[in-house]
Amino acid sequence: MPIYLLFGNANKTSLVIDILAMEAIVISLGGSVVFSHSDPGFMKKLARLLEALSDKYKIYIVIGGGKIAREYIKLGRELGIKEKLLDEIGISITRVNARFFSSLVSNVNRDIPTSTDEAINLDEPIVIMGGTTPGHSTDQVGAELAFKSKASRFIIATNVDGIYDKDPNVYKDAKHLSHVYIENLIDQYGTAWNEAGKNIVIDGPALQTIYENRIKTFVVNGRNLVELEKAIDGKPFYGTKILFKK
Ligand code: UTP
Repeated sequence: MPIYLLFGNANKTSLVIDILAMEAIVISLGGSVVFSHSDPGFMKKLARLLEALSDKYKIYIVIGGGKIAREYIKLGRELGIKEKLLDEIGISITRVNARFFSSLVSNVNRDIPTSTDEAINLDEPIVIMGGTTPGHSTDQVGAELAFKSKASRFIIATNVDGIYDKDPNVYKDAKHLSHVYIENLIDQYGTAWNEAGKNIVIDGPALQTIYENRIKTFVVNGRNLVELEKAIDGKPFYGTKILFKK
């Protein structure tokens, strides 16, 4: 990156300095949020919101595989495909989703990075990627990026309004939690990776990375753009804050 400082023209030099000085925000954007509703209007609004916020923040977005990945994984499991290969199939779908969504956003990378190290070295104001390696979901990729970019906030944008005491898609009486301690989540869900396509709010390896590195993490409904914007901006939002007991 510093090469630009030596060889770039005046405008490019100041642009790079501005981006380097910006606060970083990492968003783990569920595939279910962007792709499960076939809603072009929502996708455009989300893209415009992220572009507007990139005036203030360097934004890293990690996109999940959503329904398409889960359907492939379910079919593959029925056909006896091994777990590691199912993870790899899931990763491929997340990268297709990332490539698709990146084509709607300006000021963004066109080639999808395959590792967080690669992503961290990109100069674009918005960097979009999918999964990296088997054994975790895109939440872990986001947590790793948040650590490496020293992000001010890690936003998990999912398809429910935050974390509940039980699955709100299954139980009508599930209670919404405005905050939750990471230690309690780890006690409840553990830190191991279970299986490809597992549908949980935050996967075990990501819980471990958030805990070890004390990453400031917010969970918000990504389909609610008003609350998503507030969470990204560090303003009070409707969702769940992850806290640390010590
Ligand atoms: P997702 O991150 O999309 O999982 O990855 P998800 O929990 O289904 O998230 P939503 O629905 O998008 O919110 C899909 C699958 O791809 C594999 C895993 O099998 C995961 O379940 N994957 C993804 C990896 O193995 N490594 C990665 O880095 C990312």
